[in-house]
Amino acid sequence: MTDLPIADRRAEPRGTDRRRTTREPFVEFQNVAKAYGPKQVLRDANLTVYRGEVLVILGGSGSGKSVTLRHMLGLEAPDSGRIIVEEEDITDLPEQELYRVRKKFGMLFQSAALFDSMSVFENIAFPLREHTEMSEEEIARAVREKLELVNLHHAEQLMPVSLSGGMRKRVGLARAIVLDPKMILYDEPTTGLDPITGQVINELIIDLQSKLNVTSVVVTHDIHSAFSVGDRIAFLNHGTFEWIGTMDQARVSDDSDLRAFLKASAVTAAQPEMKRPGEAVSD
Ligand SMILES: Nc1ncnc2c1ncn2[C@@H]1O[C@H](COP(=O)(O)OP(=O)(O)OP(=O)(O)O)[C@@H](O)[C@H]1O
Ligand SMILES: [Mg+2]
Repeated sequence: MTDLPIADRRAEPRGTDRRRTTREPFVEFQNVAKAYGPKQVLRDANLTVYRGEVLVILGGSGSGKSVTLRHMLGLEAPDSGRIIVEEEDITDLPEQELYRVRKKFGMLFQSAALFDSMSVFENIAFPLREHTEMSEEEIARAVREKLELVNLHHAEQLMPVSLSGGMRKRVGLARAIVLDPKMILYDEPTTGLDPITGQVINELIIDLQSKLNVTSVVVTHDIHSAFSVGDRIAFLNHGTFEWIGTMDQARVSDDSDLRAFLKASAVTAAQPEMKRPGEAVSD
């Protein structure tokens, strides 16, 4: 079997020791099922995200990746099965208890979801004003610290309308981390960005992982991003995490659906440069 044509762009080997990855579960899905009307999106989905790792969730459009993130945040409850966060079963928690659980998470939405009428500074300050009693001075310090982390210290007075796509994502990321979450959820962080800007975001994900000592879940279609940032892949297909393993295992996996997905994604992403003579796009 030949390896898939996916370049490893990681700057250095992603040893589990370097990342302080443990085998301690942070989030667990146990036999989770969820349907919307007649559409069974998750069926018997099992997944463990370990503390300190970057887990990439790969899957086709409509496979349930965003639904999975919403279940982690307790924004949706499963029809059956359990969801555990730091050993606490959150499946049946009442809404006011879920607020406490949600503070463990920072979420970067696909659209960045900035408030267009507020400056960059105010966008990032917003969660602090909503959820803390911090003084103006403390808020300013926290906002500037987060802007520094995403390399946007010069942008605090800009309005979202004047930002490029990559800058919007970075502001969204600064807002996602302003309450110092233990876990960061990224929904399609590089989708819609050019490859160079996408790589800047990938490097930021890796950088934050070590600086903030967090656990991350990255949902993406972008396999170059997946292989840049991930410690492990969970491949969501037909409602279950059909294949879960390390990046090196993914490259040589026998799972035919995963291979087809990776190959199609690699060929699509690499055209026309990586298309070899005689290689059909669909094979
Ligand atoms: N609130 C909802 N009501 C009805 N159907 C929903 C709801 N949320 C999600 N779905 C359906 O569940 C399926 C999975 O949706 P989800 O948004 O998780 O897909 P995804 O894997 O994130 O796809 P994409 O890559 O396009 O973002 C889709 O068919 C979607 O239409
Ligand atoms: Mg989605």
